[in-house]
Amino acid sequence: MIQLKDITKLYNRGKLKVKVLKGVSLSIKKGEYVSIMAPSGAGKSTLMNIIGCLDTPTSGTYFLDNDEISGLNDSRLSAIRNSKIGFVFQAYNLLSGVNAIRNVMLPLIYRNKYPPDAGDRAEKMLKLVGLQDRLSHSPGELSGGEQQRVAIARALICEPSVLLADEPTGNLDSNSGREILSTFDQLHQVGKTIVLITHDQNAANHAKRIIRMRDGLITEDTSS
Ligand SMILES: Nc1ncnc2c1ncn2[C@@H]1O[C@H](COP(=O)(O)OP(=O)(O)OP(=O)(O)O)[C@@H](O)[C@H]1O
Ligand SMILES: [Mg+2]
Repeated sequence: MIQLKDITKLYNRGKLKVKVLKGVSLSIKKGEYVSIMAPSGAGKSTLMNIIGCLDTPTSGTYFLDNDEISGLNDSRLSAIRNSKIGFVFQAYNLLSGVNAIRNVMLPLIYRNKYPPDAGDRAEKMLKLVGLQDRLSHSPGELSGGEQQRVAIARALICEPSVLLADEPTGNLDSNSGREILSTFDQLHQVGKTIVLITHDQNAANHAKRIIRMRDGLITEDTSS
């Protein structure tokens, strides 16, 4: 489903060009749960931004669901991103003062495609992440772990091909972190494709496949 071949990414830092990804090749199949572990600065977020169609590689090819992504212009890229990618970040980025259901519905509103069953779909996603009892709570009335689960439900509302999570437990205490990891376990069991970027070995162990990176390259790719 995700096929990256010899992906490089160069950034200009003043006059200096810095190669952040140095030739990453990687395939991820539908339904896989993969974690990516690497030291800070190794290029994890850069890779996630490319997989998530937020950025394009300097060279190399990227196929998502058999469509070539490398080389697309910004508007094509954002169309693919909106329909195929669900993002979860360290910060939950929920709208305050707006209840959980409305937060989860937001991507449907942004897509200008506002199906009449948007509310029902949002409710279904919130049930999927175990928040059936928190539907009308606003972010201020939710714990950090619950807010992150609202963010996960929001990421899933457009039925993306892949859920990309960049340090989703980074802001959470260990109990809330465990909630999130067990939510991902359940999503994996119902067939979602998940890529989890983490510094935490315990979190990575939840995935069936662990990829390690160092200095812009994949150094290890182990399935259990
Ligand atoms: N837009 C940018 N312009 C210039 N350099 C960048 C840019 N984005 C990232 N970098 C550099 O690329 C390198 C990799 O960054 P990246 O954010 O991918 O690392 P990371 O593995 O996600 O690190 P962390 O674990 O700290 O989140 C870093 O040295 C960073 O400074
Ligand atoms: Mg990062």
